[in-house]
Amino acid sequence: SATPALIVAIDGPSGTGKSSTSRAVAARLGLRYLDTGAQYRAATWWMLRNGIDTADPAAVAAAAGKPEIVSGTDPAHPAITVDGADVSGPIRGPEVTGAVSAVSAVPEIRARITELQRSVARSAVPGIVVEGRDIGTTVLPDADLKIFLTASPEARAARRNGELAGTTGAPTLEATREALARRDAADSGRAASPLAKAADAVEIDTSELTLEQVIAHIITLVEQRRDDA
Ligand code: DC
Repeated sequence: SATPALIVAIDGPSGTGKSSTSRAVAARLGLRYLDTGAQYRAATWWMLRNGIDTADPAAVAAAAGKPEIVSGTDPAHPAITVDGADVSGPIRGPEVTGAVSAVSAVPEIRARITELQRSVARSAVPGIVVEGRDIGTTVLPDADLKIFLTASPEARAARRNGELAGTTGAPTLEATREALARRDAADSGRAASPLAKAADAVEIDTSELTLEQVIAHIITLVEQRRDDA
């Protein structure tokens, strides 16, 4: 019989190094990669593009089934398309970032995207790293390894500003810290599948660690799980 797919869930708020870490772990272990935040961003992009009021949960719910979201799972090039259009760039813009928490709080959106995530994970050979907010708790509660990344507010704001360095109108550290805190409060406080650490997740505080140290730590944990299996 075939070896079951290896599933690694990596959850946590933004600014913890989650995406860079998840992609690198997947690439080094030869696994597929799924960025679930990108899926919520793609849905949000579609709502904005089609004139849906993203502050109106009923309007978002009514349109939840419409966008056709397809996620690439190559960690070297995780492209995402909506209705066939590559939106990898536009989903990182400020309009989408400002509206995504409201859209992702709508249960009909979560149901649709969760279903998509499970089907991608089920068909991933030889396994997949899935990053998000509720992967270990809700989407893939049977994951082989669950990681929950955290970092101090200062470290997260500094990382986020580092990513934006050189872009026009880059915000101050304080403004970034406040924006992150606002999005955390929304993502953790919502009723539908909030950002949360699974009881059986390994928590890693990345504040004082390099990206390389976090990657190495997670790879060691994956190898231990494989040996135990
Ligand atoms: O990781 P990110 O910043 O690209 O995620 C964008 C938003 O999507 C985030 O503010 C909350 C939402 N999200 C979610 O609700 N559940 C997930 N599994 C991933 C992201």
